[in-house]
Amino acid sequence: MSRTLFVTTALPYANGSFHIGHIMEYIQADIWVRSMRMAGHTVHFVGADDAHGAPIMLKAESENITPQALVARYADERPKYLNGFNIRFDHWHSTDSAENVALSQDIYRALREAGLIDTRTIEQFYDPVKGMFLADRYIKGECPKCHAKDQYGDSCEVCGAVYAPTDLINPYSTLTKATPVLKQSEHFFFKLSDPRCVAFLQDWTTGSNAVGAKRLQSEVLAKTREWLGGEDGEAKLGDWDISRDAPYFGIEIPDAPGKYFYVWLDAPVGYLASLKAYCQVKGLDFDALLDPAGTTEQVHFIGKDIIYFHALFWPAMLKFAGRKTPDALNVHGFITVSGEKMSKSRGTGISPLRYLDLGMNPEWMRYYIAAKLNARVEDLDFNPDDFIARVNSDLVGKYVNIASRAANFVTKHFDGKLAFVGDTDAMVQEQTALADSIRAGFEAREFGRVIRDIMAYADRINQAFDAAQPWLLAKGIEGADDATRAQLQDICSRALAGFKAVSVMLTPVLPTLTDRVAQELFGAAQPFVWTDAGQLPQAIAPFKHLMQRVDPKMLDDLFEPPAGAVIAGATAAATAAKAAKPAQAAAPSAAATEGTVAADGALPGGEAIAPIITIDDFAKIDLRIAKIVDCVAVEGSKKLLQLTLDVGEGRHRNVFSGIKSMYEPQDLIGKLTVMVANLAPRTMKFGVSEGMVLAASHADGKAEPGIYVLEPFTGAKPGMRVG
Ligand code: 2FM
Ligand code: ZN
Repeated sequence: MSRTLFVTTALPYANGSFHIGHIMEYIQADIWVRSMRMAGHTVHFVGADDAHGAPIMLKAESENITPQALVARYADERPKYLNGFNIRFDHWHSTDSAENVALSQDIYRALREAGLIDTRTIEQFYDPVKGMFLADRYIKGECPKCHAKDQYGDSCEVCGAVYAPTDLINPYSTLTKATPVLKQSEHFFFKLSDPRCVAFLQDWTTGSNAVGAKRLQSEVLAKTREWLGGEDGEAKLGDWDISRDAPYFGIEIPDAPGKYFYVWLDAPVGYLASLKAYCQVKGLDFDALLDPAGTTEQVHFIGKDIIYFHALFWPAMLKFAGRKTPDALNVHGFITVSGEKMSKSRGTGISPLRYLDLGMNPEWMRYYIAAKLNARVEDLDFNPDDFIARVNSDLVGKYVNIASRAANFVTKHFDGKLAFVGDTDAMVQEQTALADSIRAGFEAREFGRVIRDIMAYADRINQAFDAAQPWLLAKGIEGADDATRAQLQDICSRALAGFKAVSVMLTPVLPTLTDRVAQELFGAAQPFVWTDAGQLPQAIAPFKHLMQRVDPKMLDDLFEPPAGAVIAGATAAATAAKAAKPAQAAAPSAAATEGTVAADGALPGGEAIAPIITIDDFAKIDLRIAKIVDCVAVEGSKKLLQLTLDVGEGRHRNVFSGIKSMYEPQDLIGKLTVMVANLAPRTMKFGVSEGMVLAASHADGKAEPGIYVLEPFTGAKPGMRVG
C-alpha cells in the first residue's frame, strides 16, 4: 500500500554554517526518504532555517546588519552543502516567512480559544544599558556555591551547581557588563500542566505510528515517562513560557503589543510553513495533506538534545490547535570525532566544506555514516582509520570490485550479453528476499545492520566468483566449446546479477553511484527502485571506472589545521612557530578556534572573520614599529629567515619568521615593519624567538601562496605603538 509521508529534519539556527552534525542528520533522513520513495511511497521532505531569537538578533547587531540579512547570508550557503552531499530536500524555507507568521499566530489563537494560554507577571533580570531582558546565557557572575568567577546564570561550570540567575553574586550582563536589575514583565504561558494536555501526552507518547511501529524509541519514551510523571499520573509538567519582550527578532503575539513568540514556539511551526510553501509551488492541498483525520504520516528527524520540545510541546500545541499530530520522532545521538565530542576548533572537527573542497567523494561520507548508524539514540564516532577501511575494503574492495572483475569478460567475449545456465529462481528469490529485508531495515533505521547484510552478500558473490575461477576458463575461451563458453558467461552473469541487486540495495546511500550503475552499465532509463532487485539483467555496457579509493593523505588534509589557524594577520611568524611546535602556535588564538569554522574560498582571505573582541582584548596585544637591522637565512630551514629587530628599546630582538619563500634577506635589511612586541619568547630549534613579525597570507596557502610582510607608511619610527 502506498503511503504519504511528511518528513522533516531539525531546523538549523540561521546564525552559523552547517557542521558535520547537521550533515549527519540530513544524510540519515535523506537515506530514509530515498528508501521510502524507492518503495513507491510519496514523500514530502522539507527543511528551513530557524531564523528567530535573541542570538541571531544580537549577532546581526554586532555586524551592523539586519537579522534578515544575516539569515539570508546563511541561507545562501546552504545549497553548497546540501547539493555537495546529495541531500535532496524538496523545499527549504525559513521561519521568518509569511507562512510561518500566519501559522504560528493561528495556532496560538486556537490554543487561546481552547483555554490553554495564561498570562502571568514574572520578575527577570534586565540590562538597563541595553534596554533588554536577559536570558540566562547573557548573565554571568560569581557562583553562589564555590565562588568561581564568570559563571553563567543557570549553572556553574566549575562545581556543577544549578541555580537561578538571581542567586549569582555580583551578576553582570555579558552584553554590556552592566549590573542587571530585576524588572517585572507580563509573560504568556502555554498551560501544559492542564490535565487535558497531560492526558493527551500520556497517550501520544505511548502510541504507535500508522504502520504500527512505536512512535518513540524506547530511550525517548523513557525520558518522556520521567517528564510526564509515569504511571502514577502525577503531573510534573510546568507551564511553558512562550513569550519574550521587545527587542526580539521573532513573530508578534496577536493582541499583545511588544510581545513576541519565544523562538521555540514558532520554530517547529516552521516545518508546517515549509510544507505549505512547497504545496503552493507544487499545487498540492496543504490542508488536505495535514488533515488530522487523514493518512499522511508526519515524521521528524531530530537530535537527542531537543527531545523535550518535540515530544511534549510540539504534539500538544498541534493537538489543542486542532491540527494533525506527529506520527514518529526519529532521534539520533551526536557525532564524535575519534572519541572526542565534536568541537569547532581546528584539527578536531570535520568541516563539511573542507571535505568537499578536498575533492573527497560525498558518497564515502554517506556510506560511512550509514554504516555507523542504528535506530537507537547513540552517539556515532567518526574515526579516520575506520573511514578509510570501510570505504576501501567494503565499497571499493567488495562492491565495485564485483563489476570490475566480471564485466570485462562479458564485454570482451560475449558482446555485453548476459546468459545463465540452469536455474536462476533460487538466486532471484534470494535477492528479492534480501532486498525486502534491507528495505525493512532502512525503514526501521537500522542502517548499520543493513550495510553489514549487504556487504555479507557482496562477500558471497565474490566468493562464488573466486571459487569458479573464471579467469582460467577465459584463457582459452576463443577456441573453447559452447559449454565452456556458456559456463564462463554464466559465472560472470551471476556475479553481475548480484552486483545489480547490491546496487539496488545501496541506492538510498549511494544515489549518484548507483544511478550511474543503473544507467551506464545496465542501460536503465530510471534510477533503481526496490523491485529492480529481483529483475535479472540481460546485458551490460562496457564497464567504466566507478569509484576511487580513499587516499589516507586526504584524511590528514581534512584534519590538518588550515594555515589560517594562527593569529589572524600574523601568519608568517606563526607559520614559523608552527613548523617548530604546532600546538603552541595555535594556542593563543582562542578567537580563531571559536569564530572561524572553515577555510572557505568565498570568505575574505579564505576564512571567516574571527569573533568580535573588545577593545580591552585588543589592547593586550602590543604592536610596535620595528626596524629590520639585520636579516639572514636560517641554515637548515627551508622556511625561516632570522631577523634582528630594533623596537626602540636600546637592545635588539631576535625573531624567526617563515617568509623565506618570498624575500631575499638583504632586501629586508633597513626596512620598517610591525611586530607583536609582547608575545612570550618561544624557544625554537634554531634559537629563541622574541616576538612575531606581522605578515598577510591567504588561509589556503596552497591554493593562493604568498606571505607579505607589513610595512608602515613613511614617518613611522621604531618603537611607535600600532593601534
Ligand atoms: O536546536 C536547534 O538547532 C533548533 N534550531 C532546532 C529547531 S527544530 C524545529 F523545532 F524547528
Ligand atoms: Zn561553582
